[in-house]
Amino acid sequence: MGVQIPVVRPRRLRTTPAVRRLVAETRLHPAELILPLFVREGITSPVPISSMPGIVQHTRDTLRKAAVEAAEAGLGGLMLFGIPAVQDAVGSEGTNPEGILQQAIRDVVAEVGDQLVIMSDLCLDEYTDHGHCGVLAEDGSVDNDATLVRYAEMAVVQADAGVHMVGPSGMMDGQIAVVREALDQAGHQDVAVLAYTAKYASAFFGPFREAVGSSLRGDRRSYQQDPANAREALRELELDLAEGADLVMVKPAMAYLDILRQVADVSPVPVAAYQVSGEYAMVEAAAANGWIDRERAIMETLTSIRRAGADQVLTYWAVEAARMLRG
Ligand code: PBG
Repeated sequence: MGVQIPVVRPRRLRTTPAVRRLVAETRLHPAELILPLFVREGITSPVPISSMPGIVQHTRDTLRKAAVEAAEAGLGGLMLFGIPAVQDAVGSEGTNPEGILQQAIRDVVAEVGDQLVIMSDLCLDEYTDHGHCGVLAEDGSVDNDATLVRYAEMAVVQADAGVHMVGPSGMMDGQIAVVREALDQAGHQDVAVLAYTAKYASAFFGPFREAVGSSLRGDRRSYQQDPANAREALRELELDLAEGADLVMVKPAMAYLDILRQVADVSPVPVAAYQVSGEYAMVEAAAANGWIDRERAIMETLTSIRRAGADQVLTYWAVEAARMLRG
């Protein structure tokens, strides 16, 4: 017999699937997953988004079917994005009561509004011909306060269509206050605001541009946050809370898990994270090449986002992940 080595053995808690299941600190549940969906005006069949394999721009009809599927999978909610047939300088279709997003909201609320929280993107980039999230000043810069006027109108039009929660995603200063005030004045006190609180000027939004047919040239660095900075995320959190945000969000997710953790540590309201188009595309591309195990990678990313502090996760894999969770 050799010497007795007094080894402390953390591995005991990793030995069997049963013990690993018993001690897991983070669990995923379909109810906390939110599926982003794209609906496009003027198409008769779904249009695949090449940079997001498996994801399409829906017709109104296939959108309804996707919504039913999401409800059956037990998801928590849907985030709807509209793609209008016509774009212009001020994004007129965003405030047209008969615009594609408003029609889609009415369709989906009628279909699954009792089972899912229906949310809508509140931003102008899908609707403007220059592709910016706001209206432009004479000098070509994004005019913060003129944009707020448009956001207020959008909020009311979306709420009139029946949406449960609006998601202002343009990173304009004061957007939550203005949206809240407009909703309240229009009698929509019960419509909640999911604030895109810490949204970074990210390369990981790349595939989304194709998804919504955006014509953006240039970038969004004058309104979205610098990836180098963490403090301003906490400042944005303070402001959004003071302005009445019901939920706050960090976006993208995976490259910003530290931000997510910092926000989650101090937020008195639920914290969502958006696993964006580029995060989806990266895993799909690597998996298509046989370089990673697709399903394990999906579940690992979602688990890590939850572990970092997200209460809800917006993910294009929501339905598939929910099915995997149910086994
Ligand atoms: C703005 C908006 C964007 C995304 C969600 N809302 C694009 C942007 O800010 O550039 C990105 C979502 C994704 O990449 O999956 N309307």
